[in-house]
Amino acid sequence: MKRIVILISGRGSNMRALFEARLPGKIVAVISNNPVAPGLHYARQQGTEIRIINHRDFADRDAFDTALANEVNSFAPDLVVLAGFMRILTEAFVLRFAGRILNIHPSLLPAFPGVNTHQRALDEGVRLHGCTVHFVTTALDHGPIVIQAAVPVLPEDDEAALAARVLEQEHHIFPLAARWFLDDRITLQDGRVRIDSTLRFPKAVISPNGQN
Ligand code: GRF
Repeated sequence: MKRIVILISGRGSNMRALFEARLPGKIVAVISNNPVAPGLHYARQQGTEIRIINHRDFADRDAFDTALANEVNSFAPDLVVLAGFMRILTEAFVLRFAGRILNIHPSLLPAFPGVNTHQRALDEGVRLHGCTVHFVTTALDHGPIVIQAAVPVLPEDDEAALAARVLEQEHHIFPLAARWFLDDRITLQDGRVRIDSTLRFPKAVISPNGQN
């Protein structure tokens, strides 16, 4: 059984979606840098191992990252999932688990890396927004893309409404990407993700759909 370690910082709704997806693997630990992350409550109820590595307890980013990497490594993970983990990881961490770290980002990368993605999408007037699951590399929010989901940006949207529409899709595509990884249906080749050719996809997503 493949071993999964999930890193969180906050609410943990993506972590929950991963638990509920009954993945072909075992979530062996949930690790948080935030001792009061609301998501820890649900993780405890699942009976999984919980670890808190509080970045505030460390003199600098390298020291924190080394401690975090050692803790992650102690669970011998096949897959490390960043599910709303809000710390930027050092190169040493990323290289140690290279090809085994997935992140979810709330935009259609490479558009809107970084924070405040929903407000920035509204400010730019884009018609499509969404989320991206990607492998983590040393470039922030820039690793090889596994899957993206697009949602329309509607005229009446505010940041909260748009965030909620995107989050619903996050909960859909993150478990899907994790499942593909665990089932060996995706591979990294020359910095790109190759997806098992037996998986089928629609030809286009258009928004607004123009059918009214
Ligand atoms: C999500 O929008 C995720 O894309 C971003 O941080 C948020 C975390 O939400 N990286 P949750 O903690 O999974 O509910």
